[in-house]
Amino acid sequence: AWFGLLAVVISYLIGSISTSTLLVRWISGRDIRSVGSGNAGATNTMRTLGLKWGVLVLVFDGLKGAIALWIADALVPHGTWALALSAVAVVVGHNWPVFFGFRGGKGIATTIGVLLWLAPLPAVIAGLVCLAVIAVTRYVSLGSLVFVCLVPILIVAFRFEGWIFAASVALALLAVYRHRSNIDRLLHGTERRIFDRTSEGV
Ligand code: G3P
Repeated sequence: AWFGLLAVVISYLIGSISTSTLLVRWISGRDIRSVGSGNAGATNTMRTLGLKWGVLVLVFDGLKGAIALWIADALVPHGTWALALSAVAVVVGHNWPVFFGFRGGKGIATTIGVLLWLAPLPAVIAGLVCLAVIAVTRYVSLGSLVFVCLVPILIVAFRFEGWIFAASVALALLAVYRHRSNIDRLLHGTERRIFDRTSEGV
């Protein structure tokens, strides 16, 4: 049990490394949490610094999820619940980072990394659907919400183990909670679109 607890704490600390905040501060000297949507994530990095930096943050924040589970798996081999809790902990760290005043992101990139590790096929399929939604609507938040809600359904369809399903549902609930303001804007037709040069840059 102690190794399980250690895995959860390490996951939270890895999640707390806010790569978008660090990168935007380093490249432009600005605080990403006071520009664009104010969110410390890949999408807002894309808005602030451009596509390639946004993709870099997406990859790094995704790696946090995969690395946390890799470490958890090494600490607690076959420890299903330790892995499920670590999966949630790394996203909680990303959303509420201890190193950055608990002001982080919405956890989608990290959730993608976690789900690629836990359930690769559902994650890839949902990822493709998510990209299609973003391509058509240009709402990244809508694509993100479709992704997190679709994965648990696919996990059931592909008969993954119960603890993986539980983790995916917890991650979906966290993501919906963090996208409250996006959902509100989507319903009112005021959500920012990506690659929209008429409003506020990218
Ligand atoms: O992953 C975050 C994305 O879904 C929305 O980001 O900056 O548009 O609120 P943002």
